[in-house]
Amino acid sequence: SWTMLNIVDDAVAAVREQVGDGRAICALSGGVDSAVAAAIVQRAIGDRLTCVFVDHGLLRKGEAEQVERDFVAVTGVKLRVVDAQERFLKALTGVVDPEEKRKIIGREFIRVFEDEQRAILADGPVDFLVQGTLYPDVVESGGGTGTANIKSHHNVGGLPDDLRFDLVEPLRTLFKDEVRRAGEELGLPAAMVWRQPFPGPGLGIRIIGEVTGERLDILREADAIAREELTRAGLDRDIWQCPVVLLADVRSVGVQGDGRTYGHPIVLRPVTSEDAMTADWARVPYDVLGRISTRITNEVREINRVTVDITSKPPGTIEWE
Ligand code: XMP
Repeated sequence: SWTMLNIVDDAVAAVREQVGDGRAICALSGGVDSAVAAAIVQRAIGDRLTCVFVDHGLLRKGEAEQVERDFVAVTGVKLRVVDAQERFLKALTGVVDPEEKRKIIGREFIRVFEDEQRAILADGPVDFLVQGTLYPDVVESGGGTGTANIKSHHNVGGLPDDLRFDLVEPLRTLFKDEVRRAGEELGLPAAMVWRQPFPGPGLGIRIIGEVTGERLDILREADAIAREELTRAGLDRDIWQCPVVLLADVRSVGVQGDGRTYGHPIVLRPVTSEDAMTADWARVPYDVLGRISTRITNEVREINRVTVDITSKPPGTIEWE
């Protein structure tokens, strides 16, 4: 509609005005907010924007490719991809406590991003950091413009002096649904524009127990099947999100294929919600649950049980960690 075109055009003009001839950097997370913010800034200043995507290995199946290939193809954004999977796995070795996992993932992200910022600064000065801050975030934090900081995952005290930037926040006046419509207007991939909420620490907090490469692969396969079947059943707009959780330290006996197995259970956690503060367990039709269960136990060798979490929030949180 013409109103959405105006929103995108106005945001592009405002960025052009703010940044002038300057350069900007932006971290892409795979989520809709950072993607739409980056696409707007790219329209405004082209190659004077450099995006950074830190692949920490904790995203779901296909999400890294969505950023690296599809998003770049549509927007023409200049992107640096950092394959930091080994680094994150190493930092997470032996860690089972949820808050400890969050701290480590946030800290490693900052370190990798700062290294990239310094590499980009070697090509010339950068004055601006792009963030996908939405209007509700602005209201929540009291309305002021802060100094640069990667807000969505980590509010770590002060930043080094050479990494202080002015913030560019093209989504500051927008609500989530407006951001999604702007994303469509900009032609971004639908899977990105309509992505349900997904936590910054990613699959790292959906493996109950230590995070390992093998466990991530198992969870990624099971999660992809669950998402595919929920989408095929047309339930994406009815369900707020559906974490799939691997109980990595639990084993149970099963019979699969030729014989006895001793595998892991996964938990499906489909919820309905307005704002994630409270939630109810989603009444997913039995036949859809049945298809998910059959496919996962057939296609993911290490999983021999599929369970459904029927706890509301409160008392249960949406995520298990
Ligand atoms: P809980 O589990 O607290 O989750 O009911 C509420 C919403 O927040 C998401 N979530 C996170 N998002 N970093 C994030 O960016 C996190 O550490 C984190 N923990 C939970 C969760 O997916 C749900 O949408």
